[in-house]
Amino acid sequence: MTTISVTVNGKPTGPHKIPAGLSMNDFLREYLNLTGTKFGCGIGLCSACVIIHDRADGTSVTAHTCINAAQSFDGQSVRTIEGHAQNGVPTKLQSAFLDAFAFQCGYCTPGFVAAAQVLLETLARAPVARSGVEAAVASALDGHLCRCTGYVRYYAALRDLILADTRLTKA
Ligand code: FES
Ligand code: FES
Repeated sequence: MTTISVTVNGKPTGPHKIPAGLSMNDFLREYLNLTGTKFGCGIGLCSACVIIHDRADGTSVTAHTCINAAQSFDGQSVRTIEGHAQNGVPTKLQSAFLDAFAFQCGYCTPGFVAAAQVLLETLARAPVARSGVEAAVASALDGHLCRCTGYVRYYAALRDLILADTRLTKA
């Protein structure tokens, strides 16, 4: 057994006594009842399980919860899909995906939202040339698999959201 404390969606939680080697996916779903984070392949290939890891330097990255142990997040801050909408109001990104009918069953959606949100925040710090938006979107969403063939609408919705926000791009 081991003990971890993690800040999840802005709220400190723990200490939790957990089995050493417990996956972050199981920790979120079984210990915190945050079932929005999905489990797909279990081997780091589909990205259905991706969450956001907020690092101490203010940057954020995506993290696979299926292949990373919960104890590797001890003392860290993460965001799950439950932390995006506030008081039932979806973020601009979530609204963009909804408006575009980007997903069907939605199983892959938490992972897509996490990756897209990280890209939006990255571009807010370091805008990309408008001509590079398509490639930036493709790179951010690469590895996220959707069995319902939602790729085109996810990609287009994120691209259009970025192009509509002048803070995220440069000439
Ligand atoms: S469940 Fe984690 S990458 Fe597929
Ligand atoms: S919407 Fe069903 S897997 Fe993507």
